[in-house]
Amino acid sequence: MDQIIVTGNGALSGQIPIAGAKNACLTLMPATLLSEEPLTLTNAPRLSDIQTMTALLQSLGAEVTSLQDGQVIAMSSHAIDNHTAHYDIVRKMRASILVLGPMLAREGHAVVSLPGGCAIGARPVDLHLKALEAMGAELELKDGYVHACAPGGLKGGVVAFPFVSVGATENALMAATLAKGTTVLKNAAKEPEIVDLAQCLRKMGAQIDGEGTETITIQGVDRLHGATHPVVTDRIELGTYMLAPAIAGGEVELVGGRRDLVEAFCQKLEATGVHINETDAGLKVSRNGNGIQAVDVTTEPFPGFPTDLQAQMMALLCTADGVSVLEEQIFENRFMHAPELMRMGAQIDVHGGTATVTGVPRLKGAPVMATDLRASVSLILAGLAAEGETVVSRVYHLDRGYEHVVGKLKGVGALIERVRET
Ligand code: EPZ
Repeated sequence: MDQIIVTGNGALSGQIPIAGAKNACLTLMPATLLSEEPLTLTNAPRLSDIQTMTALLQSLGAEVTSLQDGQVIAMSSHAIDNHTAHYDIVRKMRASILVLGPMLAREGHAVVSLPGGCAIGARPVDLHLKALEAMGAELELKDGYVHACAPGGLKGGVVAFPFVSVGATENALMAATLAKGTTVLKNAAKEPEIVDLAQCLRKMGAQIDGEGTETITIQGVDRLHGATHPVVTDRIELGTYMLAPAIAGGEVELVGGRRDLVEAFCQKLEATGVHINETDAGLKVSRNGNGIQAVDVTTEPFPGFPTDLQAQMMALLCTADGVSVLEEQIFENRFMHAPELMRMGAQIDVHGGTATVTGVPRLKGAPVMATDLRASVSLILAGLAAEGETVVSRVYHLDRGYEHVVGKLKGVGALIERVRET
């Protein structure tokens, strides 16, 4: 397995290009199952999760072709010849459950492995299943698989989510586009990835209103046609790299960055004393000389502070002047980066969903281990400002969600390299 070695090297400067959003692409790709006509995505990120979704769709009979070094994904599902998403693929990536809604809506039946939990929590899919049942689906759980059928096709219904779920909203939204009649999703997720999916589905002929609000209304249609759609900018990659100059000092321009995608995060980052300016190319972030002030952070569904930026923000707050309290409200076990940051000298006290971080003047480089995607990049960010060398192992987690992380950070002056584990 590879390792990434980071050596604190002072202030950064230059530009980092921001790619298309992993979490948008992972829901846009299954949308190809809704139509027998081609769906092409542009601005796609080059990530291992995208390769996993590609393999899953191909296992169902879809044609998926990667063009222009992976930035274009051309798909065609004119013939779905297998209706079972097997455990060996689904267990690698939870987003695989997103083939359930579209396959059921188009084909009237689907068998999808339950994804199982992951490092950050149990992450059940009960809300996905209840949403499809509200549209007339008949579901049976057997041997770790969901057997779903809708003999006469799905019917429009009211889906009232007890709490916000991004994936369940996406599954229900896709399924509803081909259901007979009107579907109303209440307490729907409002993330930019939902808006992006709705915009793509509308290009395919779907009739959708209200995306980005808590109520989405879908008028089912008989069929959807093909489309070409650009994947929205990755707000989590954006926020992650905004933290690089915040932690190490200097000034970095995030090319393609849009403040509206990360407003809550920007307000917290500015409260620490970091400057953010909108430019023609994107967002310029700088911290010149002054220290970082402690701030409290609570993760919430969009438009609140994103849970996917909590680990990265914690790395910054480890060197803040004062005490910061981070409340993780979305997942039950999303502080696994804390013990690794503590190996670098951070002072963090974790109780349940609350982490209290007492800032220290400087972290010290150390061997640390990546445990999940966002935790792994928070260790790299910490290494940018730490004294000496930080060696991050199990970096395969990183490859799931960050393309060319070493190249992007090297490009702004970081001392960072990827090596084969000794
Ligand atoms: C999406 O996961 C993202 N993944 C996650 O990003 C992100 O952290 C999460 O949304 C929250 O924003 C993708 O889009 C591929 P949820 P998802 O359904 O859809 C519970 C990353 O790092 N829940 O909004 O799985 C669930 O356990 C990943 O890129 C149920 O109980 O998240 C969690 O506690 C990590 N039952 C909470 O709801 C359900 O049926 C929110 O989950 C569904 C979810």
